[in-house]
Amino acid sequence: MYGSLKHIPHKLPYLEFREAEMSLNSVLLVFWISLVLIFHGSQAQLSSTFYANTCSNVSSIVTGVIQQAQQSDTRILASLTRLFFHDCFVNGCDGSVLLDDSASIQSEKDARPNKNSIRGFDVVDDIKTAVENVCPGVVSCADILAIAAEISVSLASGPSWEVLLGRRDGTTANQNGANNGLPSPFDDLTTLQSKFSAVGLSDTDLATLSGAHTFGRAQCQFITNRLYNFSGSGTSDPSLSSSYLATLQQNCPQNGDGTVLNNLDLTTPDTFDNKYYVNLQNNEGLLQSDQELLSTTGASTASTVNSYASSQSTFFTSFAQSMINMGNISPLTGTDGEIRSNCRKVNGS
Ligand code: HEM
Ligand SMILES: *[C@@H]1O[C@H](CO)[C@@H](O)[C@H](O)[C@H]1NC(C)=O
Ligand SMILES: *[C@@H]1O[C@H](CO)[C@@H](O)[C@H](O)[C@H]1NC(C)=O
Repeated sequence: MYGSLKHIPHKLPYLEFREAEMSLNSVLLVFWISLVLIFHGSQAQLSSTFYANTCSNVSSIVTGVIQQAQQSDTRILASLTRLFFHDCFVNGCDGSVLLDDSASIQSEKDARPNKNSIRGFDVVDDIKTAVENVCPGVVSCADILAIAAEISVSLASGPSWEVLLGRRDGTTANQNGANNGLPSPFDDLTTLQSKFSAVGLSDTDLATLSGAHTFGRAQCQFITNRLYNFSGSGTSDPSLSSSYLATLQQNCPQNGDGTVLNNLDLTTPDTFDNKYYVNLQNNEGLLQSDQELLSTTGASTASTVNSYASSQSTFFTSFAQSMINMGNISPLTGTDGEIRSNCRKVNGS
């Protein structure tokens, strides 16, 4: 029985032909890979094992500090996640958002979208101190923001992912860049899309990363126009559900304190889940820029919103990927920039 196999030719002619074709392909493949590597050489890649030999414990150190901060500040997980976004969108992920105003620095902290709004700097300082105690001069402030964002999302019951590392810290800030490049809650969808596309992020990234508004808070000043005089109409935003409108008007009276806080996600304010997208389906997005992802006529982001509303796991997988995409915005690598010893100051200043 087995003997009959011997009569089958060892290799069929067409298989030999395919093998020859494949080895030719392999040579071409090696050639193309070499070319790609040569052209990429100047632009070193981030890597998940960047600190494996120099600060293998960095992630557990960061986790410890964040958990400590969380005990007195439930909002800190959201605030740290937002810091990474505001860092990456201005001059790339280079820790520039952390620099204080000084003789030589016009800080991004004082830019319109940031002033009296972004927070968490003390916790970043505490993280930096804890990391410096164990691995001095090794871990950049830019990477601390990337690690802190992942840990924050994960501690809030969201997805985990392998954070790519190896960023170095910038020596300049870009206040104009922060004023012009960061999205505004009053931007229309087209403007949001172009601000994302300007940093190499897609409409899918826009719809996905906006899902970070599943936790954290926003001040009344960013929604009063929707509540009382939308686009100068003298009335409220028609894409806001009437019951949610009533709730928000109660919390944010017309000439009241604009700094009063609202939950970005009315359903599960401190949990990282897909309820943000369900809220949009119910016309319960807090910011104009949130609701537009679904309610703008013909929105290219609408199908993404609907798919995440019906599948949290689809959202989680995409969110991890989009955070990696955002973390890849123009990092300084190799010998560019520096490892700041104090996240608030350029070394030697
Ligand atoms: C798509 C354009 C976006 C706009 C227009 C926008 C706008 C805003 C605004 C106005 C606030 C409230 C700030 C305040 O009240 O002081 C806020 C909060 C927040 N944003 Fe965004 N955002 C956008 C995208 C993102 C992205 C991409 C992320 C992260 C991946 C993010 C994460 C957060 C978080 C977590 C908070 C709450 C922060 C806290 O409670 O401290 N946002 N955003
Ligand atoms: C890493 O950190 C954890 C928790 O902070 C600690 O228990 C452990 O001993 C540390 N390991 C090293 C090698 O420093
Ligand atoms: C609404 O805004 C428009 C344009 O900014 C303004 O002219 C109008 O007076 C405002 N209406 C109210 C009721 O505040």
